[in-house]
Amino acid sequence: MGWGVKREGRGLWTRNAVKGVSVRGERRKRDGRIEWRRWDPSKSKVAAALLRTKREPSEILPVPGSTCLYLGASSGGTVSHIHDVVCGADNHHGGQVVAVEISPRMTRDLVSLSQKRKGLVPVLGDARSPPEVAPFMRSKAQWMHQDLSIADQAVTFVRMTSAFLDKGGIAILSLKAASERYSDGDDNSRFAKAERILNDSRLVLMERIDLSGLEEQHVAFCCTLP
Ligand SMILES: C[S@@+](CC[C@H](N)C(=O)[O-])C[C@H]1O[C@@H](n2cnc3c(N)ncnc32)[C@H](O)[C@@H]1O
Repeated sequence: MGWGVKREGRGLWTRNAVKGVSVRGERRKRDGRIEWRRWDPSKSKVAAALLRTKREPSEILPVPGSTCLYLGASSGGTVSHIHDVVCGADNHHGGQVVAVEISPRMTRDLVSLSQKRKGLVPVLGDARSPPEVAPFMRSKAQWMHQDLSIADQAVTFVRMTSAFLDKGGIAILSLKAASERYSDGDDNSRFAKAERILNDSRLVLMERIDLSGLEEQHVAFCCTLP
C-alpha cells in the first residue's frame, strides 16, 4: 500500500516504530527484521477509510517525513499508526505528527506514547483554535485528520485546514452523524450539510467515503487544497 503499511485480506498492518511494544493490545508479528502491528479498522476511522476508498489507498496516506496534524487524538491509537508511517523508528524519516486533544487524561497517554516515539508532539488544547495549535507546527501540514466528538465539525475543519493545510495536502474529516446537531435532521441531511460547507470552502472534496459496517453512522470526507 505504501512504505510502512501493508494490507492482508481485510486487515491492515503498519511497520512498528517501537519494536516489541503494542499501543492498545493489538497483535504484532515478525517478518525477518521487520515487526508489523495490526491496525484495526473497527477502532480507527483512518484505517476504515483506507479499506473503503475507491482510490489507490496510498493517495490518502501521509508520506514518510511529512508534517501531519491530528485533531482529536484521544489516547493515540490511530496517531501511533500515523507515527509508524511518517516517522518510523527514532524518527529516521524526519516527520512530525502534532496530536491535539482536549482531555487531560487522554493527553497523559499521548505524552507517554511520545516518550518512545520521536516526532510525535502531544498538545493539550482546543482543536478548534488555530492560535492554540500554531506554536507546535514546524510548517504547514501535508496531511491532516480531524476526529472530534462535537458538533459543527465541518466548520471547524474548514477553519483549521485554512490555517494549517499545505497546498496539495490531504485532509480527512471523519464525521459522526450523532455528534452533529439534532436540529440538522437525520443522518443523511447532517452529512449533506457538512458536504455543502466543504464545497463552499477553498477545499476540493476528492471522495466521500462511507464507513458503515466498520464505523456506524460515520463518513470520511477526503479533501485537498489546490
Ligand atoms: C472519537 S475520539 C478520537 C479517536 C481517535 N481519533 C482514534 O482514532 O484513536 C474524539 C476525541 O476528540 C476529543 N475532543 C473533543 N472535542 C475536542 C476539542 N475541542 N479539542 C480537542 N479534542 C477534542 C475527545 O476528548 C476525544 O478524545
